[in-house]
Amino acid sequence: MDETDADGEMEGLCVTECTRCPALVDSRSRIVNGTGPADADVLFVGEGPGANEDREGEPFVGRSGSVLDDHLRTVGLEREAVRITNCVRCRPPENRDPNKAELENCRGYLEREIDLVDPDVIVTLGKVPSEHLLGRSVAVTKEAGTVDEVRIEGTPRRVLICLHPAATLYDRSQEETLAETLATAADLADVDPGSGGQSRLDGF
Ligand code: URA
Repeated sequence: MDETDADGEMEGLCVTECTRCPALVDSRSRIVNGTGPADADVLFVGEGPGANEDREGEPFVGRSGSVLDDHLRTVGLEREAVRITNCVRCRPPENRDPNKAELENCRGYLEREIDLVDPDVIVTLGKVPSEHLLGRSVAVTKEAGTVDEVRIEGTPRRVLICLHPAATLYDRSQEETLAETLATAADLADVDPGSGGQSRLDGF
């Protein structure tokens, strides 16, 4: 699927130009594309860039990024071995949630990234990405750690519902759930603990 049109241009995994969402064009300083290997076994999907991500041009580099990094390490995954992206690639004003139109405007880019990366498992970090990719309402605290199978652009995909890492900053009791969900992600991707994120299947 080609996601380039008059209002937006995608080269490989990167959106290079986009003016589809006027409010986000005004509020962003840059487009924040996904990071990590183009063939990662695990693809994390967050909601959208915040102030830190907007400044640095990378997803999850603020406080929730540190929480994610710490928890990834404990289950044998390194940030460098996974792909991390967002539902929308431009920072919404005042850190509000992206609205329906903005999510839809950016959806083709996300679908293309999923198609190209072709991960073993997609991990949705929080309510917005979970509902966006599953197309239903999701009670994230209740459903964290569960896997849905959905068709995305015709291909069946495993989607693992996960808490947003920031949830543990407000409620420490959520840390265990986050850790367990990330352990499930490593398991689903058949990652060998201690390998930094190398799938046991790589090389076969
Ligand atoms: N929260 C998100 O959902 N995405 C980011 O990139 C950072 C924080």
